[in-house]
Amino acid sequence: MRDLEQIEKRRTFGIISHPDAGKTTLTEKLLLFGGAIQTAGAVKNNKIKKTATSDFMEIEKQRGISVATSVMAFQYRDKQINILDTPGHKDFAEDTFRTLTAVDSVILVIDCANGVEEQTKRLMEVCRMRKTPVIVFVNKMDRDGKEAFDLLDELEQTLDIHVRPLTWPIGMGDRFQGVYNIYNQSLNLFAANKTKIAAEVVAVDSLSDTILDSIIGDAPAKELREEIEIIESVYDPFDRNKYLSGDIAPVFFGSAVNNFGVRELLDTFCEISPSPIGRDTDVRRVEPDENNFSGFVFKIHANLDPKHRDRIAFLRVVSGKFERNTFYHHVRLNKKMKFANPTSFLAQDKSVIDEAYPGDVVGLYDTGNFKIGDTMSSGEIMAYKGIPSFSPEIFQELENLDPLKSKQLEKGIRQLIDEGVAQLFIQQPGNRKIVGTVGQLQFEVINYRLIHEYGANCRFVHRNFSKACWITSENAEQLANFKRAKANYLATDKDNYTVFLAETPFLLSMAEQDYPDIVFHTTSEFMLSGNK
Ligand code: G4P
Repeated sequence: MRDLEQIEKRRTFGIISHPDAGKTTLTEKLLLFGGAIQTAGAVKNNKIKKTATSDFMEIEKQRGISVATSVMAFQYRDKQINILDTPGHKDFAEDTFRTLTAVDSVILVIDCANGVEEQTKRLMEVCRMRKTPVIVFVNKMDRDGKEAFDLLDELEQTLDIHVRPLTWPIGMGDRFQGVYNIYNQSLNLFAANKTKIAAEVVAVDSLSDTILDSIIGDAPAKELREEIEIIESVYDPFDRNKYLSGDIAPVFFGSAVNNFGVRELLDTFCEISPSPIGRDTDVRRVEPDENNFSGFVFKIHANLDPKHRDRIAFLRVVSGKFERNTFYHHVRLNKKMKFANPTSFLAQDKSVIDEAYPGDVVGLYDTGNFKIGDTMSSGEIMAYKGIPSFSPEIFQELENLDPLKSKQLEKGIRQLIDEGVAQLFIQQPGNRKIVGTVGQLQFEVINYRLIHEYGANCRFVHRNFSKACWITSENAEQLANFKRAKANYLATDKDNYTVFLAETPFLLSMAEQDYPDIVFHTTSEFMLSGNK
């Protein structure tokens, strides 16, 4: 019974945004409300500034900080909240995609002036694919931005999701007076304040209450009444089940840097967001309230000290209770393992824990046993599904410059691939190693780490591919023809699946036209069905 309460009170989520929309600021304010930090400015800005040329110190700093802030846990009211950090930099997008497999819901932050941006779209595609519940926070209302109704339309059209405002802004920029809370009918007045939690909340009996006119002025009050009327007639009433199924996203307006609108967001989040949910394995669905422990690794982080090549594997507990010094089964390796120092991440402090519950993330020190996607269980042979690889966009061939160091190079690149830094495709003849990433930065990280951590001597040579697609087909003859015709553009991925490396989007669409029975997959999610 106690375990059920532990599960029920947990909320594990991620904050996603296009860089600069305010993710770091909002995270910090949530921690402030939760009492996990005392002053603003305590959360390091874990992003590589756009202006920074990608230098290694910056990358190292990023790696260091992101371990510390990978998971931030805090208590708020009766809830145990785990925020999983998602790197904002687009070159680390795949890291973010994988982290999204370990959350139960997300808060999407958008900048009211920029609306839906590139990175927002990509991240939301992943959420839509997984039907992750989403709450939208429209940030920076203290600045002039797009009209609120236009923003709602933009969200619906570009993100393919229904929205439902739960608060509504009164003016914006210099004229921003606060928000009207449609959910509980109160007026929340704005006062710019970057360091303290302060907001004046006035309860309003109904929208016709004349207190509105006296506080915000006749004209804004009239406008607010009209707008709320439109909202009530155009948008369906908020339905929690539709939110939980990922069909409707409640929308809040505020200003994170001014602590404004954050409390409503957090309170509503606690009320409506899902407690830990089950996950599918290749044999069955596993629910959190099952007795036996199970979980999966969604992220692996190399330790900062190159002399100790140990790493931290981040495991999301899905079912049962994880206990320290208890033997569990590493399914892929078919091996029993126990952990003496499993770590939890409370705000920025790491501490050893004795037990963890569904929804929690445990850091496991690892000397090379884990790969991303690995399942640990109490003995059951099953593998969690759904940590897909995404089609990379930049390809370079890894060349060994020192034949005497080929062992080091081989080991190094395999371990970095296990960490999910990049994807490796092997091309024949000659076992050529094509490394694919979503961003240029990863090549610098890989090169630097291969040299400094593994003593390898190598270089990257650009390859002219623009997309890698996994191919499947029920038409064996067509598939065989394709493989014959495109032999120079085929490679195999880490699991030995065949991948087509297309030189241009045009050539990919030509191939799709010429071989209509072949499916070209841009994520490895298709493997869930087990076909090769
Ligand atoms: P990110 O993690 O999504 O990349 O964004 P971050 O929180 O770092 O915020 C990006 C910039 O936007 C920061 O300014 C931050 O202070 C500002 N910001 C966040 N919320 C608000 C808001 O509600 N209103 C306004 N006006 N600005 C906001 P910066 O100049 O890049 O950094 P800093 O020097 O202020 O830290």
